[in-house]
Amino acid sequence: MSRIVVLGTGTGVGKTHAGVALVSALASARVSVAGLKPIESGVPSEPSSAITTDASALAAFSTFHVKHPPPYALPDPVSPHLAARRLGMRLDLGRVTEWVDAHACAEVLVIETAGALLSPLGPGVVNLDLARALRPDHLLLVASDRLGVLHDVAVTLHAIRTMAADLPEPLLVLQPPAVPDASTGTNAAELVELKIVPRVVVFPRAEPAAEETRAAAKLVLSTLALQGEIQKA
Ligand SMILES: Nc1ncnc2c1ncn2[C@@H]1O[C@H](COP(=O)(O)OP(=O)(O)O)[C@@H](O)[C@H]1O
Ligand SMILES: [Mg+2]
Repeated sequence: MSRIVVLGTGTGVGKTHAGVALVSALASARVSVAGLKPIESGVPSEPSSAITTDASALAAFSTFHVKHPPPYALPDPVSPHLAARRLGMRLDLGRVTEWVDAHACAEVLVIETAGALLSPLGPGVVNLDLARALRPDHLLLVASDRLGVLHDVAVTLHAIRTMAADLPEPLLVLQPPAVPDASTGTNAAELVELKIVPRVVVFPRAEPAAEETRAAAKLVLSTLALQGEIQKA
């Protein structure tokens, strides 16, 4: 079993899109895979056809049954620690890992974190702590291909390397923003040239299950050395 934890340099950078693309690529190769979003805020308390949650987007492409409900599907569209506090709760990492471990029979787990690497989950607890508690085999770091990304990636990697040297080195995925800026398209080469990362996988602007996205997802999987599993079909 392989666990891929998806981290972000920010919110809205394309973590769910990349996660769904990976789940879809694995599913199409008949790998048993579950896409999990254990902590999510802004989830309507009544199921709504108007709002797709990250959890449901990931579950929709999963071939392994995702246990419902996830541990923390929080209604308020604010930082999960705050959304939990407003319900008189604290986020408990043990509850999250227990739920994730309940999917251990899947060959691959793709687990999306909420927000960015150091987004708080409680006093003194951030997503990086959750990532560590999930015992990942691989980390994916997702960033947006726009101005500021050189700094965002450098800072995020610095935090991982200094605060969690035991974790695997993340593979960087760049997602094209809806509105490109003057840097879009140049950042991948700059990140490598400046030795901020050894390699980058750039995703196309397309649906997560589109053919061109699948090629990028397969590149991620082969780079993560999961190629054996995706070539199994
Ligand atoms: N490569 C892409 N092609 C098309 N749309 C994308 C791409 N990456 C992200 N998006 C869109 O950008 C928005 C934010 O992406 P999302 O994956 O939800 O970010 P996050 O999970 O980091 O909050 C969503 O509407 C998503 O569909
Ligand atoms: Mg998301």
